[in-house]
Amino acid sequence: MSTTALGPALASKRVLICVGSGGVGKTTVAATLALRAAVEGRSSLVCTIDPAKRLANSLGLKALGNAEAEVPASVLEPMGVSPKASLHAMMLDMKATWDDLITRVAPPEQRERILANRFYQSLSTALAGSQEYIAMEKVWELRRRDDYELIVLDTPPTAHAMDFLDAPNRVLDFLDNEAAKWLLTPALKAGKVGLSLFNLGGSYVTRALAKFTGAEMLQELSNFMLAMSSMNEGFRERARGVRALLEDARTGFVLVTSPSPERLDEAIQFHALMKQNRMDVLALVVNRVHPLPAPSLWDEAATLAPGRRTKVEETLRELRVLAEQDLRGIAQLKDACPGTPIIQVPRFGLDVHDLTALWNTGRYLLGDDVLA
Ligand SMILES: Nc1ncnc2c1ncn2[C@@H]1O[C@H](COP(=O)(O)OP(=O)(O)OP(=O)(O)O)[C@@H](O)[C@H]1O
Ligand SMILES: [Mg+2]
Repeated sequence: MSTTALGPALASKRVLICVGSGGVGKTTVAATLALRAAVEGRSSLVCTIDPAKRLANSLGLKALGNAEAEVPASVLEPMGVSPKASLHAMMLDMKATWDDLITRVAPPEQRERILANRFYQSLSTALAGSQEYIAMEKVWELRRRDDYELIVLDTPPTAHAMDFLDAPNRVLDFLDNEAAKWLLTPALKAGKVGLSLFNLGGSYVTRALAKFTGAEMLQELSNFMLAMSSMNEGFRERARGVRALLEDARTGFVLVTSPSPERLDEAIQFHALMKQNRMDVLALVVNRVHPLPAPSLWDEAATLAPGRRTKVEETLRELRVLAEQDLRGIAQLKDACPGTPIIQVPRFGLDVHDLTALWNTGRYLLGDDVLA
């Protein structure tokens, strides 16, 4: 039985979204939560983004391409665990998901033109927030299909929290009819207006356009905008659906952070933004916390030969300093995010790349084990 806030969430939510700064453990936490939910009886899918190769292998994922693969129950046998429901995993392929979306939404006569458009082809990297958007769009699609009781979404490393939270709105703005009209003014089509104009649309446009040259670029862009404007309504409707999914009572967010001061500051900002956006932050997971060295280690050190003892005690003191620094950071986090439960996961000696390590991570996430 779980003793943390994530227990009830695993039992009742339909969508869990793991968010946080780059490298803090989002993919690890997402995979762990889906694993745990499946073991406890809810069929689950973890939708991962760029997982470490070894983790992907241990989940049975071989290639990109949005294929959902069932993780065989046998891989959990060594842990003495037999899942009560199925666990599926997939690696989200951003490009394939965009293409899929265009295929669904675009009128048949525009489809090929868009897919072949070079501006479109750079869209997934060019438009800020487009990765975040397409990940959520995929979850929205999966949720509509209703094949799983729980979908856990891992998210891409995001430099700014707003890129993620604002993604549906940004995509809507970008596709806005007004913007399209603007970009398609005759002066622009004739190439009479300089590049600086595009700054009005946001720096992502300029970044995307840097790949092209003058007239070629304008032609590609105007073709793209023309084609896209024909399907604004379909896009809008879906973006509204994605936005609604973010606020749905059965969608919850797990904010992952590491205990380093910079990451904690980012987590505090992220948390505030999510609250402002009426998102349900179920828990703050502080991952890779340095545990305080156990008293027994000091006792053991005392029995060593003098030279060796000095070295071991020095290491223990260093570890204690790191653990105390983490504790102070976590206390600040608690003050800055009142009402949101904080769950600590220790820093393990090895990376979390196999099912056993995920299982151990889950013991902390669900409160079977607690950091001393
Ligand atoms: N508690 C832990 N102890 C030790 N290693 C960990 C722990 N949690 C995660 N790791 C390792 O840290 C690395 C980063 O974790 P992960 O890939 O889950 O982070 P991420 O937030 O998804 O990163 P990115 O933003 O790059 O997608 C991985 O190699 C993972 O195995
Ligand atoms: Mg990741």
